[in-house]
Parts: sequence; structure tokens; C-alpha cells
Amino acid sequence: MPRVMATGSAADFIPPRPTLPKLRRAAAGCRGCDLWLNATQTVFGEGSTKATAIFVGEQPGDMEDRVGRPFVGPAGRLFDEALESAGIDRDIVYVTNAVKHFKFVRRELVKRRLHKKPSAAQMRACKPWLEEEVRLIRPRVVVALGSTAAQSLLGGSFRVTRHRGEVVTSDWAGPVIPTVHPSSVLRAPDELRAEARRDFFRDIAKVADYLKKGARVGQGTAVRQSTVAPPRVRQPATRKRPVPRARGTS
Ligand code: URA
Ligand code: SF4
Repeated sequence: MPRVMATGSAADFIPPRPTLPKLRRAAAGCRGCDLWLNATQTVFGEGSTKATAIFVGEQPGDMEDRVGRPFVGPAGRLFDEALESAGIDRDIVYVTNAVKHFKFVRRELVKRRLHKKPSAAQMRACKPWLEEEVRLIRPRVVVALGSTAAQSLLGGSFRVTRHRGEVVTSDWAGPVIPTVHPSSVLRAPDELRAEARRDFFRDIAKVADYLKKGARVGQGTAVRQSTVAPPRVRQPATRKRPVPRARGTS
């Protein structure tokens, strides 16, 4: 039998009655898309299972791929600084990525692996892991770091540049605050970097405010994903319908 290279969705690997530890173990063997083939390992989310905020990046970087943990490289350091500056304790958050394997191209000349943006199909394939993380943790807010995360959470047409720092509603993940990816701050040209850093820190400070003030503050901006069905409303318990009497037997 040929070995399965990729099934097309991480949903094929979600265990029954999932918990975060079970998911993490299952994700280690995920072949939902082809990215597992070249990467070192799955980088699953980590942090408090009672987190009030989940921060979602794009995908592991070179360092995260080697270490097996999210946001431990240069972008992670900047992210940690922003959390600290906003007074957000890393112990109360959960950190993960929209895509859980590192996608890269090798550049032989510089002997480096260069990050490559995941495709829409890879984002779709990996989304079930993120859905489960959000469903199990039920945070007060999800923070999208960059456009890949924002598009997983809010749909493909969502534009971070237009809505950064706002509280928008995801059909499946609840309140989301989108901002830029910390890597974009690191990549900014010298003359713009200080400003990019300040703006990023300001957005993370808004997350801290949101967590302090309570879930109602600032909610309800009208940005919704219009292409997706509204969230399912739980039906009230159905009453047993009376069994219809057979006709003609009065
Ligand atoms: N960039 C990300 O989006 N995620 C990481 O874990 C590291 C860098
Ligand atoms: Fe599975 Fe996601 Fe890795 Fe693709 S990127 S193999 S869907 S964990």
C-alpha cells in the first residue's frame, strides 16, 4: 500500500474526545498537508489551558522548527517584550500558529532556510488544530498576529492593515484583535522600525485593556465574515411531538 503523503485535512487526525495533551500528541503525526514532509517536527501551541487570550502567529520559524516550541526565535523575543510592556503575564496566555509546520525554501548560498508563506490550501488543512485549541480553551480574546492568522480566523478577504487594534468578531473564534506579525516589525526598514514597533506595542496594549475591562468593552464592531454562515444557535430542547394518529380510524 502506498504511504499517505497528505490526507488534505488535519481533521483526519483529531482524536475522539480531544483534550489539549491528546491533540498535541496527535498533531505530532499529522499528515493533513504536505508540510510535514520537509519540516523537523510539528510545533503545537503551548501555554495555559485556562488562558484568557490566545495569540496566533503564522507558522513556526526556523528556530521554532528546531526547538519544537512556538515563538522562541527573534520574532518571539519581540513578542515577549510587547507582552511584558503591556503587563500581560505569559503564564495567562496560550501561544500557537495558524499552520503548525515550518514552510521554507532552502538557499544553498547562505545555507539558510527562508520562510515561505503557507498556501490557502495548507492554511485550510491545518485549521482544525486551531479550531480545537480555541474550542477547548475558550479564551476571552484571540489575537491574530499578521495576515495569515487573521485570514484563518476572519476569512480570506480580511485586511489587517484596515482593522489592526480593533475588536472584530470571528464566526467561530469569538472576539479577535488583529495586529501585524512581530516579524514585520523586525523586517521594517531602519527609518520605519521604531514606529512599527511602537504601533505593534500599542496594539498589544489594547489587548491588555480589553482583558482588564471585560469582554463587553469595545466589542461589536461591524466587521464580520460575510461569506460564512452565522454561528449556530443552540436549539432549545425539542419537545416530543405527539404521534400523529393514523387517519381513518376514529
Ligand atoms: N513566527 C510565527 O508566526 N510563529 C512562530 O512560532 C515563530 C515565528
Ligand atoms: Fe498537519 Fe498542519 Fe502540519 Fe499540514 S501543517 S501536516 S495540516 S499539522
